[in-house]
Amino acid sequence: MTRILYVFLFFLLSTASFGQNQRQISFNEGWSFSLADELQFRREAYNDSKWKQVSLPHDWSILSDFGSQFPAGNAGGALPGGVGWYRKSFQVATKDKGQHISIHFGGAYRYTEVWINGQYLGKHTNGYLSFSHDLSPYLYYGGKTNVIAVRVDNSQQPNSRWYSGSGIYRDVYLRYQQQTHFFSEETFVSTPTVSAKKATVRIQSQVHNPGNKKLQVELRLLDATGKPVATGKVDLRTDKIDHTLTLDKPQLWDVDSPELYSLHMLVRDMQGNELNAQTQRVGIRSIAFDVERGFSLNGKPLKILGVCLHHDLGALGAAFNKSAAKRQLLMMKAMGVNAIRTAHNPPATEVLDLCDELGILVYNEAFDMWQKKKNKFDYSQDFKEHHLTDLAAFVKRDRNHPSVFMWSIGNEIREQFDSTGTVLTKEMANFVKALDNTRPVTAALTETNYVKNFIAQAEALDVLGFNYKFEDYDKLPKEFKNVPLIASETTSGLQTRGVYDALHDTIQFWPASSKDKFVTNGNADFTVSAYDNVAAYWGTSHERAWLEVKKRDFLAGIFVWTGFDYLGEPVPYPYPARSSYYGIVDLAGFPKDVYYMYQSEWTDKDVLHLLPHWNWKSGDIVDVWAYYNNADEVELFLNGKSLGKSSKTDDRLHAAWKVPFVAGEIKVVKYKNGRAVQEAVKRTAGAAAKLKTRITHDDFKTGDARDLYFVEVELIDEKGEAVLHEDIEISFQGSAGVEILGTDNGFQADLRGLSNPARKTFKGKALAIVRVGDAATTKTLLIKSKLGDITVPLEKNK
Ligand code: GAL
Repeated sequence: MTRILYVFLFFLLSTASFGQNQRQISFNEGWSFSLADELQFRREAYNDSKWKQVSLPHDWSILSDFGSQFPAGNAGGALPGGVGWYRKSFQVATKDKGQHISIHFGGAYRYTEVWINGQYLGKHTNGYLSFSHDLSPYLYYGGKTNVIAVRVDNSQQPNSRWYSGSGIYRDVYLRYQQQTHFFSEETFVSTPTVSAKKATVRIQSQVHNPGNKKLQVELRLLDATGKPVATGKVDLRTDKIDHTLTLDKPQLWDVDSPELYSLHMLVRDMQGNELNAQTQRVGIRSIAFDVERGFSLNGKPLKILGVCLHHDLGALGAAFNKSAAKRQLLMMKAMGVNAIRTAHNPPATEVLDLCDELGILVYNEAFDMWQKKKNKFDYSQDFKEHHLTDLAAFVKRDRNHPSVFMWSIGNEIREQFDSTGTVLTKEMANFVKALDNTRPVTAALTETNYVKNFIAQAEALDVLGFNYKFEDYDKLPKEFKNVPLIASETTSGLQTRGVYDALHDTIQFWPASSKDKFVTNGNADFTVSAYDNVAAYWGTSHERAWLEVKKRDFLAGIFVWTGFDYLGEPVPYPYPARSSYYGIVDLAGFPKDVYYMYQSEWTDKDVLHLLPHWNWKSGDIVDVWAYYNNADEVELFLNGKSLGKSSKTDDRLHAAWKVPFVAGEIKVVKYKNGRAVQEAVKRTAGAAAKLKTRITHDDFKTGDARDLYFVEVELIDEKGEAVLHEDIEISFQGSAGVEILGTDNGFQADLRGLSNPARKTFKGKALAIVRVGDAATTKTLLIKSKLGDITVPLEKNK
């Protein structure tokens, strides 16, 4: 009999916004910044007029060239840490006296201390969690200027296994509220029951009610058209609310149709005056895990098709930008992803907002280490004092997002090897469940001898995540009979976009074993072939990892390491390699070939992708591959002559031929029921003659003042064929008010800083990330190169 172990029925809230009598304003602009470190910077009267003007989110590390001298090492991104100070002056109107005014930081890396008008407000230690301070008691009202000073200390290095960034790298805002207001972090909404006909909705929250006034709370649930679908009124007897609404025929939140409602919560005095309001987006859905059949969403089985993502946004570093995050998520969604794992820390809340909107499930992870360190100065030094308060902040911050479907309390935690792992797992799993009993708690484990895995043996986790070692998958259901299982991390394949080394029939492991830190027989130019046949020794090819998960129903799904290349951890090479090779997409956002393997397996879109390019030396034997779907077989033609048909097999997810190179063209044709339905061509390219540009913006617009333009540049020959065999220097220059935030080419060992407006193409491609300021009038981008200057308008999608 099938055992449904965890059934989670949800009615969930998302982004909070605020009604009348209150407001929330962005506090990102107009900061002064210094990389010096003096205690006097905290003083109200300090003169910072010579400091640099910056806007937030801000990451000072990414502004540097890469270098071997930085203590973070190449594993940490080969960029500097240090201490930075931020100061901002602002005024508060006299009419706001008596309001509760607080400052909210989405995240700052790392130790962050805040002063208002010289008054110390405290220190925040967790570089990935949001925090806030009440400013009201120390503010000046009317004409007198307030000064906020923030010291961010990322000087203790190394403290991370990947690039962390440094500074106030997420959004900051000020919140003005009446003294009587909802404690937004105490709001938690769940549904005891959900069916196609009805959902019951339980809303828990807490009101800050100085003077214990008699109050009434009004609840209104609106559908996407703004029509009220359920309402309720509650007289507040204590400061707590616990109320259930009933909703007929709920529109369920799903990965294909992420339906969202909005819940309006109002608190009024007994005369009916509105004192405070909170509006939150809502998603209704149920999740379930089954030991034999894996995961289901709204009662329907759904294989989790996921990728792990680190938090950096390529050339923007850690500086969060919603349109850059949206670009990444849309690329993953188009590949067929239905879930992401936030490796290995809480993401920006805006990432969760996007996942709610786009229909992407989130495996939300808290920690990469507990009290046993992985790096000399990492979070282990704060764990003992802060792990429970950090977990509480994490769960309360994120529990109202419908996209979040699991809590992970850790990744490859060292305590899995001794009995402290059992004690801490029990403590943390129970702690999380006390704050949210509607989602499973998991951890990503790695250990061949699972019986000795002390985290698993705690029997406190609802789902067990296993990283790598697919050879052991079949042992797992025998060892852990009553716990659902998920492949929380797989693959660690290695590739550089556009690089094709002669194929070997078996997979190569770089480095080959735990004895080697780096590859010894790698490519002299720090590249790795983009055929899917190189992996770290603990991993495997993309195809193999997916095949192994695909055929096992008891595995709820897969999280591939990783969706995008990220800064730091440049296995298999030492410096000058400075960013990872693991991505399905490179750091600049250009897909590697294996992207299409996933798209052919994970979507119904018609896929036919041919590799490699067709510029070789006469006599070279070239491995030609095609990723495809929705067909029976594919046929390859060289200069019009058939080289035979090929198809995928149970063991291989691409078609393949070995072809002696002759200049001209290769063409692959896809057949369904004997009929040719699609074809793809690669031609021998001549010299680079032109730059082709593609500007993407509209799709990534978030309605934010910081929406970006992504300008992709590709080298083409006279006839328009892509050129990969030649690279050239190009530089970008914006018209007045058009700012180049970063440039990239996706090559993992390019040492030029990513904020530099000049970039050499790599395998024929480069990217500029551009922001158009409010004052910009002409909105154009000048691209200079030896092929001649071109001016591109930044107006709409091309
Ligand atoms: C895993 C680890 C990841 C990353 C990956 C690289 O073991 O969980 O954070 O280091 O290896 O292959």
